[in-house]
Amino acid sequence: MENLLFFLEGNIGIITINRPDKLNALNNQTLIELKELLDEIGKNESVYTVIITGSGKKAFVAGADIKELNKLNDTSGSEFARFGQSVFDSIENLGKPVIAAVNGYALGGGCELSLACHIRIASENALFGQPELKLGIIPGYGGTQRLTRLINSGRALLMILTGDMICAQDAERIGLVNAVCKPEELMDEAKKIASKICSMGQIAVSKTLEAVLAAKNLSLSRGLEKEAELFGDCCGTKDFMEGTDAFLQKRTPHFTNE
Ligand code: COA
Repeated sequence: MENLLFFLEGNIGIITINRPDKLNALNNQTLIELKELLDEIGKNESVYTVIITGSGKKAFVAGADIKELNKLNDTSGSEFARFGQSVFDSIENLGKPVIAAVNGYALGGGCELSLACHIRIASENALFGQPELKLGIIPGYGGTQRLTRLINSGRALLMILTGDMICAQDAERIGLVNAVCKPEELMDEAKKIASKICSMGQIAVSKTLEAVLAAKNLSLSRGLEKEAELFGDCCGTKDFMEGTDAFLQKRTPHFTNE
């Protein structure tokens, strides 16, 4: 891969967007590579949880590549947005938890990339923003939809309509990120969360993602029905027997993901 790094640490897959000289801006090549890598990760049974971060100390991702944006017209613009959306959808629908470790600028497509992840941890120097209006466009990789669902429409509109960046602490205060830590502790924090998730039965982990995703897309009554169905699926697993037996026998469960 030209613009991505991937390492497996135990059951944690670590993706680094690696164009530091362009502040990790997402060009088409990077999105193609990300899509291919996510397809591979989705099929790889040894990857339980994924962390996405940016290369260098300055940026997570400073947005879509403005050099490429500059060439779009009304037809190619919609295709451009659809492709980016499809890549970010494959993060949200990976079936494995994805944690964004936001280590600096998360602007435009970078903010949207973090929004497609299931959990967001930010370093104290992270800055979030949707500056697309300054370029005469709107967010096109899911920002108008995911940001609105996550932090409410008033807050999302304030960020999008002003294009202002917000600091990590403010992002935490409004629920845009789950936690903020020192830059040098960011990856350890993300790995700590990932390791806890890896210690669970992975069938229950993926059913959790499916159920919580349903809360975004379904009505409450249909979402509850989905939850009951997925709960029942879990009750049919060996992990369920192991988890409940281990509790009753006062020992640590050993899940086999069956
Ligand atoms: N697309 C393409 N290139 C980008 C980029 C982007 N989104 N963001 C940064 N870069 C490039 C710059 O062009 C520069 O390249 P160069 O050295 O070849 O000139 C390099 O990355 C470093 O960026 P620079 O602007 O010099 O850094 P800075 O510290 O002065 O400013 C930012 C940092 C993030 C404030 C500034 O780069 C910026 O505003 N980027 C665009 C953010 C944006 O609008 N994103 C949304 C796109 S939809």
